[in-house]
Amino acid sequence: MPRFGAIISGTGSYVPEKRLTNQDLEKLVETSNDWIVQRTGIRERRIAASEQATSDLAIEAARRAIESARIKPDDIDLIIAATLTPDMSTPSTACILQSALGIKRHIGAFDINAACSGFVYSLSTASQFIVNGIYKHVLVVGAETLSRIVDYTDRGTCILFGDGAGAVILSACDDPERGLQAFELGADGAGGPLLNVPAGGSRMAITPEVLARHDHCLKMSGREVYKFAVTQMTHSLQQAMQACSLTSEHVRLVVPHQVNQRIIDSATGKMGFPAEKVYINIDRYGNTSGASVPIALDEAMRSGRCGAGDWIIMVAFGAGLTWASATVRL
Ligand code: UT7
Repeated sequence: MPRFGAIISGTGSYVPEKRLTNQDLEKLVETSNDWIVQRTGIRERRIAASEQATSDLAIEAARRAIESARIKPDDIDLIIAATLTPDMSTPSTACILQSALGIKRHIGAFDINAACSGFVYSLSTASQFIVNGIYKHVLVVGAETLSRIVDYTDRGTCILFGDGAGAVILSACDDPERGLQAFELGADGAGGPLLNVPAGGSRMAITPEVLARHDHCLKMSGREVYKFAVTQMTHSLQQAMQACSLTSEHVRLVVPHQVNQRIIDSATGKMGFPAEKVYINIDRYGNTSGASVPIALDEAMRSGRCGAGDWIIMVAFGAGLTWASATVRL
């Protein structure tokens, strides 16, 4: 039995001002607003300003989460940042955040890359430090500037992705029956080539040829990923419910990764969730990868779609291929 509950004591999110609408994309690639809305549910996404890096979005979300948890930056014991678009390969985005938040204690800080599942992976990791009584408050952030790795000549991907950041403070409480009660983490590395950024790491250096082929950008086999996403999100949602003996009646809200409206509808529908029990903001932000679940969670909490005592399930799927779910009693 855990000695402490790992509760979500504060949330925050931030999205950049600039909007990229479907109509804007119609001018860049051969697509249409109708096609994008029908196939994905997306109407617009946010794009970071040229001077904004991932940590700049993350810091805003983190500040809001800290304020909502009513703690001070120096109360934080650990920072975990989920991102596949860090400011640079090193230092980590979490270390940049530690400094930007003005935290004077030399607390631990590290990034996790599990793509769109990264935030749920990070939350589950953070909870281990809390339930075992090691730390009291962990800042968990999901932040992305996907616009920096999206190929705006590829209509199969550029319609999907946007920028943003979300954050939570995970805190210790005396009641182990509150907070994060179960999680499932999964990966199938054999599916990696279905969704990847081929160049820019140690495998493929950036050369003029690579740039000309746009191999430094996100590549995706959309149809294959789609099928896998429906199967795995359904499976992970089922695991999350079974782990706590929950039916869809017990659960107040599912907070899914905003991957594609049709994938979300299919997975949640199979598990018996009506639309009003599923939080959706994909129409406004598109798919923001690691930022998508914490942005949705922050909006859901602030708008009263879920609150103290409610069961919620977060579920995500992404590159790796990875998937994850977390069952939480708020
Ligand atoms: O965060 C996790 C990672 N991402 C995902 O999980 C994304 C998963 N995949 C998807 O969401 C969908 O596969 C897409 C939205 C990317 C594509 O939707 P789809 O319903 O799977 O379309 P499709 O790839 O099967 O293409 C259907 C048709 C094709 O034309 P033909 O061959 O039938 O003539 C495509 O060329 O639609 C065409 N098409 C487009 N048409 C207008 C593909 N992209 C576009 C576009 N606008 N943007």
